Amino acid sequence: MKNATLYLDTQRTIADISPYIFGGFAEHLGRCIYQGIYDPQSPLSDENGIRQDVMEALRELNFRSIRYPGGNFVSGYHWEDGIGPKERRPVKRDLAWRSIETNQFGTDEFIKVCKALNTQPMMAVNLGTGSIQDAANLVEYCNLDGGTVYSDLRIQNGSETPYGVKFWCLGNEMDGPWQVGQLSAEDYSKKAVQAAKAMKLIDPSIELIACGSSSSFMNSYPEWDRIVLEETWDHIEYISMHYYASNQDGDTASYLAHTHQFEQHLNTIAATIQHVKAKKRSPKDVFISWDEWNVWYRETNGNGEWQEAPHLLEEVYNLEDALVVAQWMNVFLRRADVLKMASLAQVVNVIAPIMTRADGMFKQTIFHPFVAFSRHAAGQSLDLKVVSDTHDTAKQGSVSLIDASASFDPERLEGTLFLVNRSQTEDLETEVVFQSQAARRVKAVHQMAGEDPKAHNSFEDPENVTLQQVQAGEFQSGKLVLRLPPLSFTAVVLEY
Ligand code: AHR
Repeated sequence: MKNATLYLDTQRTIADISPYIFGGFAEHLGRCIYQGIYDPQSPLSDENGIRQDVMEALRELNFRSIRYPGGNFVSGYHWEDGIGPKERRPVKRDLAWRSIETNQFGTDEFIKVCKALNTQPMMAVNLGTGSIQDAANLVEYCNLDGGTVYSDLRIQNGSETPYGVKFWCLGNEMDGPWQVGQLSAEDYSKKAVQAAKAMKLIDPSIELIACGSSSSFMNSYPEWDRIVLEETWDHIEYISMHYYASNQDGDTASYLAHTHQFEQHLNTIAATIQHVKAKKRSPKDVFISWDEWNVWYRETNGNGEWQEAPHLLEEVYNLEDALVVAQWMNVFLRRADVLKMASLAQVVNVIAPIMTRADGMFKQTIFHPFVAFSRHAAGQSLDLKVVSDTHDTAKQGSVSLIDASASFDPERLEGTLFLVNRSQTEDLETEVVFQSQAARRVKAVHQMAGEDPKAHNSFEDPENVTLQQVQAGEFQSGKLVLRLPPLSFTAVVLEY
């Protein structure tokens, strides 16, 4: 048996938790949109072709924003191809994923899905092949009341009320050689600033996200981020981060400690923001939008061989992946001071928590920790003091056996502890010491655990790895004592 102690003080807060860290990402890629969200052939779809079983699962995930339409796809996308009567929409080649794009789903359909999910749309503009004018026109189409050519076009297409899209990404991964229209940091910044000016002249209330490095493996990281921040600072509200985790070598212990690497990545971007803020003597802040994050390493073939809705990037997630996702969200809470938006990449079929086929869907392992956080992490994030036994890992050195975060909602007088036991063999006896205010009772304990890190869900066995309600821990002399099984994620909901 190993031990950990958590010192929890509801007065020791990090920051308010932005609801937009519980976002998703839907790209025209593989079967995310087509056969995922939109599938007119399926008996499970409504009269508009929207899969109702998928919508129900998306509601459960409780995404507060959804980023759309890409991703690499956006860098060759002409948004005007995806509006108006469906029979007149052009069929085109999508160069990003070498697929056929029918344009049967576009901006208006996406906004309807967001409305039905009660989620904020987060739209990306094409700064690859697209022009500044195209970007401004799309804002006009979405956000102006009427009386101009593009806002009237929206009305003509059936939407009298403007969409009020608040969040806009200025392109996608423009540092990547794989990106159609890749630019240097300097050239990207110039284009982004001019697009931002035009877009905010159309609608000054929008908030803009500039492209940060597409990953920490890029040679230009983090210099790209510094340059982009310096050049675009006065025009943006957020800089993006993208990161995908992997267990390529099958080293579970190192993989479960991978959090250290992406926490370091986030800390670097946060420091770069501080550096630029200081250099500019600027009173404003720029925050981080981690608008692509997930596990992705098994299904990497991005060549759709010019098919419609090809099977691309359809990762099947296992228990260890779910534990990495849970720890990732712990990082989100621990850095709630700088992280204000995040989008799980992606929402359906493509590196996603939901997998569909024509007659049904199943929830992947990663679905469950995401739901636990998006439901329970509200209010403020707390600065936990963690004292824990450690173990050695080949890639990340010595790490704590526990990875933890905590939230506290002063209005609802409710808080949640999110705990991962990284050990593959040992129970972890965990004491929670309440400092300024003790919890009155444990409302619920949701737990995912198993002996096999490779255990996964499937159409045949959809509930193999899921969250279970388990027996609460015990209060002993004012402390809460919990026993966390090996390879586990636990969400402890507390009432104060
Ligand atoms: O999410 C899959 C792809 O990963 C996105 O299209 C791109 O932005 C990133 O490289």
